[in-house]
Amino acid sequence: MVASSESHATDAGVDILRAGGNAVDAAVAVGFALAVTHPFAGNIGGGGFMLIRLASGETAFVDYREEAPGRASHNMYLDAQGNPIKDESVVGALASGVPGTVAGLALAEQRYGKLGLARVMAPAIHLAADGFAVSYALAQDLHSESIKLGKFDASRHIFLRDGNYYQAGEIFKQPELARTLQEIADHGPDAFYRGPIAHEIAASMEKNHGLIDLGDLAAYQAKIREPLVGHFRGYTIVSAPPPSSGGVGLVEMLNILEPLDLGAPDAYASMHLIIEAQRRAYADRAQFLGDADFVTVPVASLTSKDYAVKLREELLAAKPDAPVRAGNPAPAENGNTTHYSVVDADGNAVSNTYTLNGGYGSGLTIEGAGFLMNDEMDDFASKPGSPNMFGLIQGEANSIAPRKRPLSSMTPTIVLEDPKAASDGAPAAGSGGPQLRLVLGSPGGGTIINTVLEVLLNVTAFHLKVQQAVDAPRFHDQWMPDKIFIEPGISEDTAARLRDAGYTLQRVGGIGDCEAIAVDSQTGWRFGASDPRGDGKAAGY
Ligand code: GLY
Repeated sequence: MVASSESHATDAGVDILRAGGNAVDAAVAVGFALAVTHPFAGNIGGGGFMLIRLASGETAFVDYREEAPGRASHNMYLDAQGNPIKDESVVGALASGVPGTVAGLALAEQRYGKLGLARVMAPAIHLAADGFAVSYALAQDLHSESIKLGKFDASRHIFLRDGNYYQAGEIFKQPELARTLQEIADHGPDAFYRGPIAHEIAASMEKNHGLIDLGDLAAYQAKIREPLVGHFRGYTIVSAPPPSSGGVGLVEMLNILEPLDLGAPDAYASMHLIIEAQRRAYADRAQFLGDADFVTVPVASLTSKDYAVKLREELLAAKPDAPVRAGNPAPAENGNTTHYSVVDADGNAVSNTYTLNGGYGSGLTIEGAGFLMNDEMDDFASKPGSPNMFGLIQGEANSIAPRKRPLSSMTPTIVLEDPKAASDGAPAAGSGGPQLRLVLGSPGGGTIINTVLEVLLNVTAFHLKVQQAVDAPRFHDQWMPDKIFIEPGISEDTAARLRDAGYTLQRVGGIGDCEAIAVDSQTGWRFGASDPRGDGKAAGY
C-alpha cells in the first residue's frame, strides 16, 4: 500500500512493489517521482526525513534536512536596524539551504533497498522525459504561484511556459530534469554533490547572489539517527528526533493527554484538553528546540512522563485560555511540504516527509538542471523571538550557524501496538512484540505536529477507521499567535463553547494533507487513506 499526495507518484511506488521492491525501494521511487509530478513540494532541491521500520523490528531515521551554507551567519537576514529584510529568507538563492534529498534517498536505498537506485528512479525519469497529464490542482497551483516563479528565467520557462500557462489535461514534459535524474541514476549522489549538477547549482547560486558553493555540496551528508520513541495507552510511537520538533512535540502532547478522559472528537471537552496540550508543547518548541548537533536540546525531559504530570496539573488548574508563557503575537500562514506512507507485503514500513519549505520553494530553478531550490533557511530563527513564515516563534537554539540544520515541524510517524505491553512499552512475555498499526504524516509547516496528533488520537483514542480519522475536521493552536485555527467542519456549537470559554477562534480553509496507512490487527490488511484536502491517492494490491 502506498499513500501519497499525487497519483502518478503513488502509482510509481506500487509499480516498484509489484516489481519485487520493498517499502524502502517504493518510498525512494515515490520521492523521486514527486520531484517530477508535484513540484509544489516534491523535490530534489530540498530535504526531509525518512522514518523506516522493518518487519524485523529494526528502525532507522534518515535525516536529510537541508544545511546552512558555510558562509551563512547569525544575522544574515537582518537590516542595519536589526529587523528581518522582507522575503530575503523566502524568495531567491539566498533563501536556500544545501539540499539533502538526493543524499537521503540514495542512502536509504543503499542501506535498506533491494533494487538499486537506477531501477527505483526509472519511473521518475520516465515521468520527466515523456511527461504526464497536468491535473486540475497542479494547473491551479502553478498559476497561483506565477509571481514568485515569474521572477526567475528558468522557472518562468519551465513551470509557467513563459505565460502560456498549463491547463488541466495537457502533457508536462521536463527534459532538463529528466537528464538530471538520469545523471543521478547512472552515477549516484556524487553526480549531484560533486559532479556536473553540483557545478550547475554553484553557478546558479553565484549568478543569483546565493551562498551555496561547491565546498558546501561536497560536505553535505545525510545522517542516520535514532528515532524518537514514546508510549501512549499501549501504543509505541516512533517519530522524528531533532532537528525536527515533531517527535518531541507529539510525544509531549500524548503524555499530557494519556490519562485524561477525552470523550468524543469535535466536542468542547476533548478539544479544550487537546488545545491546552498543544499550547504547552508549542511554547516549549519555541524555547528549547533546535539542531541537537549544535545546541543542547532537553529531549528526555520534555518527553518524560514526569514532566507531563506537571504540565497536566497546571493545565487542569488553569482557567481555559490562561496565558501559557509570555511571547509576541505573530501571523500564521499555511506551510507546504509533502508526506507519503508505504507498507509492503512483508510489513516493512516507511513514513517520509520532505519539503522545499514554501510552495515551489525559493522559486529559483537551477539553470540547465530543471529543479527548484528550497527556501528552508526561513525555518531558522532569523531574529530569535520574531515569527517565521509559519508565524512560529523560535529561540536562540534555532539561530543560524554555518552547516547547522534548521528546526523542522515535519513529523513522519509510525505507531506500533502491543496490547499486552506495560505502560512504559516494555513487551509482555510471549506477546510476539509490537505490531505495525499506523504509518502517517502530513505537510503544513507549523501545523504538522498537531495534524499528526489529531489523526493519531482519532485512531487510537477515538477508535475511528483510518479514512474517517484523516477526514475528520482539524484545529491548530501553536501557542503564538494566541488563537485557535479551526477548519469549517468543526461544529458551530463546539466553536461557540470555545469562544465562551475565552478562546479566540479563526476559521481556516484546510489544515494539512495527511497520507496514512493503517494495518488491521486481526487480518493484517493494509488500509490506505489519502487526505480529501489534497489531490493524492492511496493504492495497493
Ligand atoms: N519547512 C517546514 C518544516 O520543516 O517544518
